[in-house]
Amino acid sequence: SSSNVPVPPPQPSLQPNALSANSVASSTSSLPSSVFTLPQTAQLEALYTIIRNKHTSRGDFLFYSDRIIRLLVEEGLNHLPVVKKSVVTPTGSTYDGVGFEGKICGVSILRAGEAMEAGLREVCRSVRIGKILIQRDEETMQPKLFYSKFPQDIAKRYVLLLDPMLATGGSAMKAVDVLMENGVSEDRIIFINLISSPEGLKTFCERFPQLKVITGWIDQGLNEKAYIIPGLGDFGERRYCE
Ligand code: URA
Repeated sequence: SSSNVPVPPPQPSLQPNALSANSVASSTSSLPSSVFTLPQTAQLEALYTIIRNKHTSRGDFLFYSDRIIRLLVEEGLNHLPVVKKSVVTPTGSTYDGVGFEGKICGVSILRAGEAMEAGLREVCRSVRIGKILIQRDEETMQPKLFYSKFPQDIAKRYVLLLDPMLATGGSAMKAVDVLMENGVSEDRIIFINLISSPEGLKTFCERFPQLKVITGWIDQGLNEKAYIIPGLGDFGERRYCE
């Protein structure tokens, strides 16, 4: 049958496993050695495209940001030390494997970091989780600690520090200061976030060179209101408000 509807030309399809060109991480080699990004695959970029879209519903934002959080937490666990561990299998053979060396806990930076707690609990059964609330002091304009609650033995644990957006790095750096004041050593902290600004990442990593950062995506920069560009807007608002 003939019709007058123009047929759109076929879209070139992107290779599903190709590294994205739309990524600072895949185009720069100047990342600090303490920064690890998720593999910049087309699947990952598709997830980010959904959560960045301002027309995405709250339900979809929750679902797809949770998928990214899950990937980030799994990547974070890849950086924990292991020791040799042998087990006997039901066949009676010995399997010489490994087990995690130490105990971990999560610490979420309130409020948005709380959104990452469920993803951590999904992969670490009955994990202990601490919280920290940092806000800008209206007088000094500096990040100030308002509240914190940690497992009492936090100094002996590896800490997965959770905050979805690394913008200026101000609250994340304050959170690390507080953790270190509570006896956690810098090299036992792994900071996990969904999107980083290059400037925030640089400031943070220069201050804490021994601390590992796992980030899903590195964006272009910050605007005058310290929002990440292109970013996804206010993470807490996207997740908690319609
Ligand atoms: N926090 C957010 O939620 N979004 C940004 O872009 C920066 C900080």
